[in-house]
Amino acid sequence: MSAQELEATAKALVAEGKGILAADESDPTIEKRFKSIDIESTEENRRSYRQMLFTTPGLEEFISGVILFDETMRQSTDEGAPFPELLASKGIIPGIKVDKGAKALAGFPGEKVTEGLDGLRARLESYRELGARFTKWRAVIEIDEALPTDYCIDANAHALARYAALSAEAGLVPIVEPEVLMDGTHSIDRCYEVTARTLSRLFSQLLEHRVLLEGLLLKTNMVLSGTEAAQRAGVEEVASVTVRCLRSTVPAAVPGVVFLSGGQTDEQATAHLSAMNRLGGNPWELSFSYGRALQAPALKAWKGDRSNIEAGQQALAHRARCNGAARYGEYSEEMEQQAPAA
Ligand code: 13P
Repeated sequence: MSAQELEATAKALVAEGKGILAADESDPTIEKRFKSIDIESTEENRRSYRQMLFTTPGLEEFISGVILFDETMRQSTDEGAPFPELLASKGIIPGIKVDKGAKALAGFPGEKVTEGLDGLRARLESYRELGARFTKWRAVIEIDEALPTDYCIDANAHALARYAALSAEAGLVPIVEPEVLMDGTHSIDRCYEVTARTLSRLFSQLLEHRVLLEGLLLKTNMVLSGTEAAQRAGVEEVASVTVRCLRSTVPAAVPGVVFLSGGQTDEQATAHLSAMNRLGGNPWELSFSYGRALQAPALKAWKGDRSNIEAGQQALAHRARCNGAARYGEYSEEMEQQAPAA
């Protein structure tokens, strides 16, 4: 694929009024999500749940792409349509999580580095054949009094850049995701400092690895107070501090920043995105690539029961619509009153 094609796909993923649905939970993660509704994580339950999400009527109005997990990439609808084909037929771009998870970083207690580079070139080729047009790799950075170390930030930035170079080579738009976790008692200033350090090291590695910035997307955390902080910043502060952090670290060549929700409530994640887009004047699109903040109400409405499929789809469509409005800075709390009854 040419550079122009990578750029066109990256741009399409952050098209006006749309964002990405992250449905790439690994087996242990989906098991955790299913446990919350008392459902066993069997292959068939995972397939039925994802089928419900992907066949939501009108999903393509607000969703530009869906990130899948390896198993889901190979699964099909009841009628036998492979999920990547089903999505593409709706005008939704299929993508795939290609990392193998964050593992303990030897010599650095409490810190992690994401694995999955070995054999990646061959895996990327097979995902492209299965219909993927973009990929995702997530690195995890934890904050406490002494962490993160520069070494942890560098090791993860290096792996992200090596992954991104391979993904672009395979003609797949890389979504580089360094996630600074919100767990902890830290202040929003501390989150700013760690996020800025992480992003500036990441972009310096991406440039050193000769990765085309116009053909990738950044998926990152918002700059937030820790979940257990004594004082937590409000919506307007989160929006202005996050945008300030991005402006000082993310090159204007990058077409878009897509946020993860990372444990924020559904409504918070939407309100923060909307407030950032109200500020305006940024060189990149500011969009969403939410997992929990799009899926949580759908999962709750579904409860693993076929008779609840419509309710689950309505719940997903509602969140997608709210986040679509947030892309224009036009989300309001009143929109929540149109939510389907739980
Ligand atoms: P959350 O929005 O639930 O954080 O998930 C997004 C994601 O893809 C994390 O890798």
